Amino acid sequence: MSPSPAAGRAPSHFPAAMIAIHWTTAVLMAAVVVIAWIIPRGQSDYKNWLLFFHESIGLTLLALTALRLIVRHLSALPEESGLVPWLEAMAARVTHVLLYVILLAMPVSGFFFRTARGDAVDVFGLFSVPPLLPPSEVVRKAAWFVHTNGQVAVYVVIGLHAAAALFHLVVRRDDVMARMVPGAQLTPARQPAEARPAAE
Ligand code: HEM
Ligand code: HEM
Repeated sequence: MSPSPAAGRAPSHFPAAMIAIHWTTAVLMAAVVVIAWIIPRGQSDYKNWLLFFHESIGLTLLALTALRLIVRHLSALPEESGLVPWLEAMAARVTHVLLYVILLAMPVSGFFFRTARGDAVDVFGLFSVPPLLPPSEVVRKAAWFVHTNGQVAVYVVIGLHAAAALFHLVVRRDDVMARMVPGAQLTPARQPAEARPAAE
């Protein structure tokens, strides 16, 4: 995705709010998926307890993603050009769009699957979100189709994304990771002119 038109002069790092949401998202995403794996079949209090956390964290991810997209729209973002070849930059851009699609589609499909029989969803015992549509088996089936198959995209796209980031960090040793780490030093040649050491 290209920097926002409001960017002006491009900064060296992502905005602090986006960095905070990015790493919080990574942790919550791991939690939501691991919980999904261990939810048992049948009916039990243990299952309901796990579902309570799965759903509450999932809806938290949806809210964080909405906030992140608003911040992204309003902020100046770091430049992409020059850091990686254009084909890689394009692949990264496509991956980032897919990550946002996953971050929206998984919670939304989970919510519609869960509420399609008229139940509300309790979020951490703080408030409950009512069903937004009338009960429907068609919606329930469609939502489950997206939710259960969407997990493949979760594993593949996030796996590729994390592997690419680590490749940049360990093999390329460029500034891609530093842009997502608050306060991380960029290599001097890529720092804004006024921040470079005087000797340069
Ligand atoms: C990023 C957010 C989410 C991710 C990555 C995610 C992922 C998953 C995965 C991988 C499964 C297992 C699917 C299967 O067994 O084939 C699952 C099941 C489920 N999810 Fe989510 N989910 C998310 C958010 C939500 C939300 C927000 C809700 C509801 C409000 C929800 C409700 C459910 C339900 C009801 C199940 C079925 C559990 C069962 O009975 O086995 N999910 N989810
Ligand atoms: C070990 C795990 C992860 C690492 C090391 C990592 C690393 C990074 C890095 C270095 C960037 C900046 C890329 C650039 O400047 O072009 C980035 C961006 C991004 N990451 Fe991750 N990430 C991880 C997990 C995740 C997860 C789990 C998600 C969401 C499901 C995610 C979603 C995103 C998105 C959407 C962007 C694009 C930001 C934007 O331009 O708006 N990341 N990540």
